Amino acid sequence: MKPTINEIEIAKKIVNDLIEHNFFDAIICEDCDGFYCWRDAKKQKNYLKEAGLSAHSGETKACIISDKLSNWVIKVGYTYSDDEGRTTTDFCAIEAKNYKDAIDEGLEEFFAASYELCRVTPPEKYKYEEDIVFFIQEKAEPDDEKTSATCEKYTGSDCNDDFDRVESLFQGNEKLDSLFEFIDDWNINDLHSGNFGYTKEGKVKIIDYSGY
Ligand SMILES: Nc1ncnc2c1ncn2[C@@H]1O[C@H](COP(=O)(O)OP(=O)(O)OP(=O)(O)O)[C@@H](O)[C@H]1O
Ligand SMILES: [Mg+2]
Repeated sequence: MKPTINEIEIAKKIVNDLIEHNFFDAIICEDCDGFYCWRDAKKQKNYLKEAGLSAHSGETKACIISDKLSNWVIKVGYTYSDDEGRTTTDFCAIEAKNYKDAIDEGLEEFFAASYELCRVTPPEKYKYEEDIVFFIQEKAEPDDEKTSATCEKYTGSDCNDDFDRVESLFQGNEKLDSLFEFIDDWNINDLHSGNFGYTKEGKVKIIDYSGY
């Protein structure tokens, strides 16, 4: 699955608008606390509502969902630093790389498609010298209840680990063993129920596959 030129244009415009609304405050901030500060300020809340956007976060990435993009979301990693103040890991970049590798292994159907969208140089006031890289990813919205119910039905109890979840959600798929191997070899961990999502066609996908 690939975005059309039109979808890419819409996504880039959303990124530009976000930046005009101080989105760098949300992501050049070490961790997701800065993101919530930005998102929940009255000014931004109004903007997000009027623009038809919703903003989500995990521990390492922010995700923007737009009314104008029905198949894709925009994702960007927080800028973690080491002792020298540089970025250490861009978890969205790992996702895009893993997706490319999944294609090479014939396993892309299990993962929400992920590609680099654009690079933006933050204004000087952020004192951050590297470009921030935005990504576009196939939309597949988490549904904890559905995911947990599928797991419980399959295992007959609570799903306790990543492999139980993968096995129950993709039960019957002939590539399941190869998927297990890939997940293991690529160190894709932290597959809690919120890291699976459902496309609008109802297909289950892994949406957070950067490992941690
Ligand atoms: N492809 C997607 N489609 C729909 N929503 C998404 C998608 N990817 C991410 N999200 C939303 O954004 C949130 C954060 O994304 P993601 O899980 O990739 O970040 P993370 O920081 O790695 O999370 P975690 O805390 O699980 O490590 C998700 O919990 C989900 O609500
Ligand atoms: Mg997550």
